[in-house]
Amino acid sequence: MRVIIRKTYEEISVEAAKLVTSRIEKKPEFVLGLATGSSPLGLYRELINLNKKGVVSFKKVKTFNLDEYYGLKGDHPQSYRYFMNTNLFDHIDIDKANTMVPDGTAQDWEEFCRHYEQKIKEAGGIDLQVLGIGSDGHIAFNEPGSSLASRTRLVALDAQTIEDNSRFFEDKNQVPRFALSMGVGTILEAKEIILIANGKNKAKAIAQAIEGPLTSMISASALQMHPKVSYFLDEEAASELKRINYYKFVEEAEKKLGKEIF
Ligand code: F6R
Repeated sequence: MRVIIRKTYEEISVEAAKLVTSRIEKKPEFVLGLATGSSPLGLYRELINLNKKGVVSFKKVKTFNLDEYYGLKGDHPQSYRYFMNTNLFDHIDIDKANTMVPDGTAQDWEEFCRHYEQKIKEAGGIDLQVLGIGSDGHIAFNEPGSSLASRTRLVALDAQTIEDNSRFFEDKNQVPRFALSMGVGTILEAKEIILIANGKNKAKAIAQAIEGPLTSMISASALQMHPKVSYFLDEEAASELKRINYYKFVEEAEKKLGKEIF
């Protein structure tokens, strides 16, 4: 595990973008797992910049998003498909046919979820999964108590998530109550994972995920089971961690060795 801490959100976004682009450079036919929400927005802005400058190309990249609200069509302004198009896909050289977001209108959602997992397998698995974290410690829409072996499925949203996400809707009653979401088990199969968190309201969840016990009550704690995770945190999100000095020491050692230490 690597924990990269910087003063500002802008700085962690730049660091995260460096990691993503370095991986795509090595493997242009990359399979990238993506998240929505406010946490990865800085990363997406940076990737757009780097793409426009010709530093990175997404022509051969395939993407799979973590989740989608159930009941929203892709052209709904609050749908995650709409979010991805407007915040990333419309601005980079990716072929939209290679961008997969769960279909929030799938009638037979069980069949759809099976099919989504199958598509990930057929693509060769996810090379790098981008994550944010909920204030209750969720990753994707794996609310507290989700099985750590869970797969892509229909999930009921927790009251805390509905409250947190109501800021994007006119009122709380408009927030969908269900979503289609990759499971914790699905996420753990990605070959590499990065998690971006900023702000004081993420500090407790981050401390529980990184330094707390492995528990389904904090689904992000399952990342402790994964051999290749990098956390990108601003100082506020890192503020409740106890081993900050150690994480900084490891980063210094990485610089000296010229290699990442997980
Ligand atoms: C979004 C997702 C969620 C968010 C999390 C944090 O695709 O999977 O787990 O990453 O709710 O959301 P923000 O970044 O808006 O604080």
